Amino acid sequence: MPLLEIARLGHPKIRSGAELVSVEQLQSSAVQQFIDDMVETMRDANGVGIAAPQVQVSQQIIAIEVSADNPRYPNQSAVPLTVLINPKIIQHVEETENGWEGCLSVPDLRGLVPRWKQVNVEGLDRHGKLVQFEAQGFHARVIQHEVDHLHGQVFLDRLPDLKTLTHLREYEQYWNR
Ligand code: NI
Repeated sequence: MPLLEIARLGHPKIRSGAELVSVEQLQSSAVQQFIDDMVETMRDANGVGIAAPQVQVSQQIIAIEVSADNPRYPNQSAVPLTVLINPKIIQHVEETENGWEGCLSVPDLRGLVPRWKQVNVEGLDRHGKLVQFEAQGFHARVIQHEVDHLHGQVFLDRLPDLKTLTHLREYEQYWNR
């Protein structure tokens, strides 16, 4: 399975949003192969999530996977591999919390982003079955980040204070404690 090329900020697809995927499209071998390639690309880049526009495809597909030993986000609770098609946040608590975020499409930067602490998500799994679940904390954060990608948004748009923006080396040196 080939690795896909990750689009970085400035690539038009990062800002163009994504189309809904029909169950018929989803069941095609091309889309199933694409999902496998997205997952492989995410893992190769040590990502905890990836959205189709980040690999230059304007379809509403995201994948999320947090392993406890991820070098980019260590010490987060594990989240098993989850592929979601046409995901929507259908409910959320009003309370937000700040957390450091980066993005495969915005390399070498971290910023402090407020996200809802808990969200309810609805979408299809990769076989077209309706799924609905609740996510909290870092899991909820990753979902909000990936759903934003489907609407042409990146975490920089959510930064209330650009002064928190830091390069990775400086993040490790001054803020990762
Ligand atoms: Ni991202």
